[in-house]
Amino acid sequence: MGFKHIVKGIATCLPGLGGFACRKTGGTDSARYCYSVWLRHLVMIHRAGLDIRPKVVAELGPGDSIGTGLAALLTGVREYYALDVVEYANTQANLNIFEELVSLFSERRPIPGRDEFPEITPQLNSCKFPHEILTDEDLAEALAPSRIQEIRNALLRNTGVSPVRKENMAETAMIRGKDTIKIRYFAPWYDSGVIEPESVDMIFSQAVLEHVENLAGTYEALYRWLRPGGFMSHQIDFGSHGLSKHWNGHWAYSDLTWRLIKGKRPWLINREPYSTHRNLIEKTGFEIAGELKADDMSGINRNRLAARFADITDDDCKTITAYVLARKKA
Ligand SMILES: C[S@@+](CC[C@H](N)C(=O)[O-])C[C@H]1O[C@@H](n2cnc3c(N)ncnc32)[C@H](O)[C@@H]1O
Repeated sequence: MGFKHIVKGIATCLPGLGGFACRKTGGTDSARYCYSVWLRHLVMIHRAGLDIRPKVVAELGPGDSIGTGLAALLTGVREYYALDVVEYANTQANLNIFEELVSLFSERRPIPGRDEFPEITPQLNSCKFPHEILTDEDLAEALAPSRIQEIRNALLRNTGVSPVRKENMAETAMIRGKDTIKIRYFAPWYDSGVIEPESVDMIFSQAVLEHVENLAGTYEALYRWLRPGGFMSHQIDFGSHGLSKHWNGHWAYSDLTWRLIKGKRPWLINREPYSTHRNLIEKTGFEIAGELKADDMSGINRNRLAARFADITDDDCKTITAYVLARKKA
């Protein structure tokens, strides 16, 4: 079972082949994807009645570019932190995506939907541009030519999300903008000291938390960074990410098989179901402010799951994706 995935996993352990499995993440190499993701998070936050004008935003796992964060900056965010474990983003990709994002927002394009990105979630009732959230007045300010230039400068000044770092991650991986616009990229970020405690209004992630190994420590770091009243907005995908022909087939692999499949990859999937996230979120001290789960009743029957997933709840068993919005109590 999973033979070809085991072979791939073992290949990542061979000298010279370790990097082949993690060169690209997909998704944020497209400006339209980044635009769609950021607007989806804003719509969900607005729906829950939380502040849709955060000024300081952090993103976990931006992937191939920091385009989703650039979309955030183009809607009025002033300071953006990107936290990844592998340095996927590069300045040229970021700049290309940025220019396209400027056009998308200037033209108030509709939110790209599942016809274009079949797996994108959370699903929205409407893909119209959310004028009620981003008014013409807000956007006139956020997209003023001088402000756009300031964001571009913040990116340009730093051709280097480059391989300079290692010794002093906090300093060398930092991209500095002018006083008003700040962009900072940390890869890998592991030390929670990279961001000041209680300095962030909003943290978001898209298709990332299912990959995080140290979930408890990560939720604690997110809690530490958020100011009281700040919130986090996450979309999580519980599917097998192509590692089985069934969406839930990753829960059928034994721990040994899974270790072989993972090999030496820096991240794969943590195989935790939604309730693990929900429990950790609450245990860390957050209150859940919104939730949107999607179910899938196809896939393998629960009696074929590996021993460690035998007690998975019926609800977890069918939850293929979940959007969760949680607030740090004021
Ligand atoms: C499937 S990609 C998603 C990328 C992007 N958010 C998107 O929507 O396309 C998963 C990303 O999570 C990152 N990642 C994995 N473990 C992480 C961790 N512990 N902290 C931060 N990012 C992590 C990976 O490096 C990768 O960039």
